[in-house]
Amino acid sequence: MSLKKPITFILNDETITTEVAPNLVALDYLRQHRSLTGSKQGCKEGDCGACSVILGEFVENSIRYRAVTSCLLPMGELHGKHLVSIEGINLEDLSPIQKSMVECGGTQCGYCTPGFVVAMTAGLMDESIPLDDSGADYAISGNLCRCTGYRSIKEAGRTAIAEIESEIVDRPRIEALCESGVLPRYFREIPTRLRAIPPAKIDSPNKAPFIAGGTDLFVQQGEELPRIRATLLNTAPPEPIRVENSYVVVDARETFESFGRHPAIRECIPSIAEYNDAIASWPIRERATLGGNICNASPIADMTTLLLAMESELLISGPDSERWLPLSNFYLGYKRLAKTPEERVTLVRFPQREAGAFINWEKVSKRRVLDIATVNSAAKIGIENGRIASATLALGGVAATPLVLSDASEKLVGLPLDIDSIGTVIDSAQNEFKPISDVRGDASYKRLLARQLLWAHFQKIISESMDEEALYEALR
Ligand SMILES: Cc1cc2nc3c(=O)[nH]c(=O)nc-3n(C[C@H](O)[C@H](O)[C@H](O)COP(=O)(O)OP(=O)(O)OC[C@H]3O[C@@H](n4cnc5c(N)ncnc54)[C@H](O)[C@@H]3O)c2cc1C
Ligand code: FES
Ligand code: FES
Repeated sequence: MSLKKPITFILNDETITTEVAPNLVALDYLRQHRSLTGSKQGCKEGDCGACSVILGEFVENSIRYRAVTSCLLPMGELHGKHLVSIEGINLEDLSPIQKSMVECGGTQCGYCTPGFVVAMTAGLMDESIPLDDSGADYAISGNLCRCTGYRSIKEAGRTAIAEIESEIVDRPRIEALCESGVLPRYFREIPTRLRAIPPAKIDSPNKAPFIAGGTDLFVQQGEELPRIRATLLNTAPPEPIRVENSYVVVDARETFESFGRHPAIRECIPSIAEYNDAIASWPIRERATLGGNICNASPIADMTTLLLAMESELLISGPDSERWLPLSNFYLGYKRLAKTPEERVTLVRFPQREAGAFINWEKVSKRRVLDIATVNSAAKIGIENGRIASATLALGGVAATPLVLSDASEKLVGLPLDIDSIGTVIDSAQNEFKPISDVRGDASYKRLLARQLLWAHFQKIISESMDEEALYEALR
């Protein structure tokens, strides 16, 4: 059976229909099939950003553009979308971004430069990224450079924003960017041209294996995937996040970035944006899904640890049936899941935050950002009248799967918020896991980290009412 079916999309200014394998990654298509070699191959693992492209698709009635890494982007997902490579944003003159890269000395060998320019341009196209220094840095969080040391690149991004801010602020963004010479004028016609592409025939959604954002799968099996048949889950947008019967209900195909930006999630998990900053980079978060994080079943999956503490449940849908299962019962062992290969996770739900409930997530990794965790931990703790009324503690990186510390969580209930009572429970929690030594750290280091991260949750709740000296003594 052929793996191929026609994919129609707009590549830069050209509408294209192709029958390449749906799991061929866009980077290989651009370079090998279209001779568009501005997108560079660096790591081919989503880490370096040399292959950055901009992906535009309709979200409700307007097109949302975001930076993604083309080395992890399957072609089969592009039907009806706008794919923009560096060649698609080149104008006759240098754009303000390209000009400031030259003037600030942001390019030396030049290998990373197209990726940085693409990411900075995508940052300006996304109206929710602030037009200031923090926004400039956010946009390039997924790009590495071996030559410049970043200072000049950051300066270039900040300078470009400062120069054009007054021309684009509070105006329809794409139109304003076309007028200020950041984008070519063909961008204005893209919505009409995308609407003219007829919808694709959707594959049956229940044929394993499944590819969601592909940020784990293409790293693990990038060579094999173009040769096999798989179901691309993200050809259609996820269902909107909703609140239903006191639960927040999220499509498992929701990306980390959209999850973190949604008002219902920010209401429930107030510091979600801060947590997201410590998970991967902007382009990876624009692709990485909750379902992929849960089903990849890494012991250090960041979002899964948070969802465990939120007491999440999964809707598992198979060819003939579906059922809800607590996330804490989903892992049977290392990478062993309580589902058949044909079943997929379709929804994730967790209770809305109650008054007095405190949620916190912590992560230690070798680098502060853009790194996987050595140990991570999340906590949901309800406080009533100065006592712990409910508690769910989750830990990652200390066992074969992400864990809920059931005994410790139970023992906390009813305790006063004092160092001795909490310290006794945190010490006893060490019996609930058994870390192994690996490249991220040896077992005793992970035990120490686990203890400190558990303490960090309480330090954030009770630091004001606690004797600081005693707290630091407990953390030692
Ligand atoms: C550069 C880089 C940095 C990263 N940094 C982090 C980090 O800081 N923290 C972190 O936790 N992770 C990180 N990751 C890992 C990855 O991004 C996440 O695990 C992500 O959530 C995976 O989601 P996905 O949609 O891309 O999964 P995919 O790669 O599409 O799928 C992963 C697995 O889950 C299965 N699957 C996906 N969706 C479903 C579903 N709905 N039902 C059933 N099975 C499904 C797939 O078949 C596959 O086995 C990083 C990855 C990269 C490339
Ligand atoms: S080649 Fe490095 S992120 Fe794609
Ligand atoms: S300029 Fe050489 S890698 Fe960035």
